[in-house]
Amino acid sequence: MDPAQHQDQFKKQAAEAALSQVEGGVIGVGTGSTVNHFIDYLATIKGRIDGAVSSSEASSARLAEHGIPVLDLNASGDLSLYVDGADESNKALQLIKGGGGALTREKIVAAASERFVCIADESKLVSVLGDFPLPVEVIPMARSYVARELVKLGGNPVWREGFTTDNGNLILDVHGLQIMEPMKLEQGINNLAGVVTVGIFALRPADLLILGSASGPRTVT
Ligand code: 5RP
Repeated sequence: MDPAQHQDQFKKQAAEAALSQVEGGVIGVGTGSTVNHFIDYLATIKGRIDGAVSSSEASSARLAEHGIPVLDLNASGDLSLYVDGADESNKALQLIKGGGGALTREKIVAAASERFVCIADESKLVSVLGDFPLPVEVIPMARSYVARELVKLGGNPVWREGFTTDNGNLILDVHGLQIMEPMKLEQGINNLAGVVTVGIFALRPADLLILGSASGPRTVT
């Protein structure tokens, strides 16, 4: 097996392990290749849940293909559980998310959920966030202004050209950051005019991290 296949096996392992966290009702479902495995596993127990609130059009389509009802967060109220992947996690379960561009809806569903279970392969656990370019969703007219402000914060923003988010906005991927104070940087970038969402999930971190690895799934709390 090549490294990419191993990584996918580990993602699958974490996704399967997360099934034990599902207690019923309506659950929040994130976005990405790890979550795609989770949705496929969720389908095997779909009779136990009332439906899912999804963080992207892609996940909604996959849930619907499996016959899992996709519900509107405005109608469902708060959720007991949210399951999503991450691009990086530190030991405090503060995350970088948004590699797939779904960060805004992911942050909303995470905020509306009592528990956030993050699923990933073990390569996602890092000591300092920032090797993965930090996604920032911006209103189109603010792209250059926000990019200049991100340079002042020490980053090197790169426009994800040709990509539009599910909300009709753009993404800047910020390279070269070593995020020593994730909460402070999350607040700072949130405060820039024109920023919709920054992909640091530190003010609302995950509650449980399930990592797939060569020695089986392990949890970090
Ligand atoms: C999408 C995300 C994903 O959770 C993140 O990119 C991880 O993706 P994958 O499971 O494919 O590695 O934040 O916006």
